[in-house]
Order: sequence, then structure tokens, then C-alpha cells
Amino acid sequence: MIVLGIETSCDETGIALYDSDRGLLGHELYSQIKVHSEYGGVVPELASRDHVRKLLPLLDNLLKRLGLSKTDIEGIAYTQGPGLVGALMVGACTGQALAFSLGIPAIGVHHMEGHLLAPMLEDSSPEFPFIALLVSGGHTQLVRVDGIGHYKLLGESLDDAAGEAFDKAAKMLDLDYPGGPNIARYALKGTPGRFKFPRPMVDRPGLDFSFSGLKTYTLNTVTEHAQVASSKPENDSIDAFNIGLPDEQTCADIAYAFQDAVVDTLVIKCRRALEQEGLSRLIIAGGVSANECLRERLEQALEKVGSSVFYARHEFCTDNGAMIAYAGCQRLLAQQVDGLGVKVKARWPLDELDALEVPCG
Ligand code: KG4
Ligand code: ZN
Repeated sequence: MIVLGIETSCDETGIALYDSDRGLLGHELYSQIKVHSEYGGVVPELASRDHVRKLLPLLDNLLKRLGLSKTDIEGIAYTQGPGLVGALMVGACTGQALAFSLGIPAIGVHHMEGHLLAPMLEDSSPEFPFIALLVSGGHTQLVRVDGIGHYKLLGESLDDAAGEAFDKAAKMLDLDYPGGPNIARYALKGTPGRFKFPRPMVDRPGLDFSFSGLKTYTLNTVTEHAQVASSKPENDSIDAFNIGLPDEQTCADIAYAFQDAVVDTLVIKCRRALEQEGLSRLIIAGGVSANECLRERLEQALEKVGSSVFYARHEFCTDNGAMIAYAGCQRLLAQQVDGLGVKVKARWPLDELDALEVPCG
């Protein structure tokens, strides 16, 4: 079955064609980063409009490149949530309209299920059951996965998501949005050990996370070392943050210490989750799973305890259409189909999803 995947939940327009027999046929991605970068974050209305402009031309390009036509598509999967409502509506309306006109089934996919299953697009993909660490701009969750739709939430962030924390720390260091890759690049020049940032909530039992204290600690460190004398903003709002920066090396050292603290915290909780559930396979997914330091440290830590970590190639860690095509294909093959109504969900707990009877590979 050839399934078209459409991803428009935030600031990336992604489409892909996945064939249940042959695997991924191809994908196209358009990033709106330039549109939003001058605002320091995603502007929802601009995001929706850009998806409208780019979605169908991307589909035409992909079909042309693959020598296929619309009539070769046998099912459509679009991101139904969670995400920005206007942006989701563009993908959902387009997906439903295309499916109706072609007389084929359509299904709305959970964005985080897409991320969670993205490592399945790789040659070496894990068997069920496994633990998934979902780390994106909006989510930080540890989930036990026993099959598609068989998700048990083990822990999550009580405040900022890991990606959000990266983005905010980057803003403090005057780095562009999205902050994660920029902090990671800057951290390469950092001096290990100059600063030691706290590892939030690792001394407490449980699998929840909290990154807002780390954010404040970062802001305090930046303020203390600022070259232009200035006081800390009255509230801790990053928008109010308008002080001189520390010198270049100190900024790199702060980026290093920040990344080190986030990665360490994630590694500790992943090991704890594997131990608690008696499992030996971990997948990491979502934008932050592209972080090389996180990948390396997890590999080292899990090797010591005879466990292994799986992740998708870089382009499928951040938002993309391939993960939606894959997840939708598994559900369509299991005869799940949506009606004609267009419904999107800004919020949508992962454990509300229908479970597929037979875990698919
Ligand atoms: O999954 P994603 O593309 O979008 C959401 O569903 O949120 O994740 C985007 C997030 C951003 O916060 C971005 O800063 C972060 O992933 N990110 C990274 C890296 N690449 C992207 N964080 C740390 N290191 C990276 N290399
Ligand atoms: Zn995402």
C-alpha cells in the first residue's frame, strides 16, 4: 500500500510516500525557519499561511521526482495533533480533500506517535517492547511501547520540554532559533568543568523531568558573567532578557554546561526507565534526539548495562512527512480509517490512541 504522509503541525511542511512493501519511496521537506527566525519563535498565523503556499507544490515535486502520479497513492495520513491548530488544519483539509477526490482512505496521525515510530524507517530498527524517550520542542516523555498504540506514559516534563529549554537557553546566549543545534555547535568550543549546572530531579525517585530551574540557573550564570554591567531582569521572563553577553568563550562554556546537564539528566532517567520496566531497548525520537552528545552518552551508558539505543537519521528526528506516512500506513493496514469530517487537536495525550491488535513491524 502506498501512503502519502503530510506533516504540518508546526513550522515544517513535510510530505512523503511510504510503500508497505518497498519502504520509504521519497520525501520532501520545507522548513519555515527563515520566516520565524526574526521573531525568535514560531508565529502561528505565518506558519499556517506558509503551509498553504508550500504543501501542494511539494507534493507535485515529489510525485514528479518519483515518476508517480496522484492516482498511485492508495491512502493518506496527515498529522491531526498535537500542534498549532491553524497549521494542522492545512494538512488535515488538504489530506481529506485529496483522499475524497481520489476515493481512498485517510487517517489522522498523532504527531508524537510519528516521532516515536520514526526509528522504524531505519535498517536497524528495534523490536517491541522498548522504552521511548520523546524529546521535542513541545514534549519530553518516557513511554513504554509494547506495540503500535500500546503506550504507557512513565514520566514527562512538569514544565518546559527539553527542546524548549534548549531554545530558551540559546536565546539567552543570543543564538538563533531553533536553539538546539546552535547550542550543540557552540558547546563544542566549551571548556568541560568550568561550570557545573544542576541535574534537575535526578535525586528524587520517579521518571518525571523539570527543566525550568535549569533555565533560571542558565540565566543567572549569563547575567553574572555579562560584560556590560546590568542587573537581572525583574521577572525571569526571557523576553525581558536584554543584557550584555559574557565573552565568547564564557558563552561557549555556558552552552557546554547547559547541554551537559540536560543530556546527563536524560541519560539518568532513561537508564532508570529501562531498569524499572526490565527492558533493554531504548529509542530516542523528536528534534532533541538529533543531538550528538545525547546519542554518544546514551550509547556509552547503555552499552555498560547490555542495552542498546536506536534513533532515526537526523532528517527524521525533527518534523518530517516520512514518520507520518509510516505511522499512518500501519494504522491504515490495520483497517483504521477516519470519516470525512476534519478534526484537529491542539492537545492529545498519547495514551488515548487506539491500540493495534497485532504489533506491526
Ligand atoms: O520534533 P521537533 O522538530 O518539533 C517538535 O515537534 O517540537 O523538535 C524541535 C526541537 C527544537 O526545540 C530544537 O531546538 C530541538 O528540537 N533540536 C535540538 C537539536 N536539533 C533540534 N536540540 C538539541 N540538539 C539538537 N541537535
Ligand atoms: Zn515534532
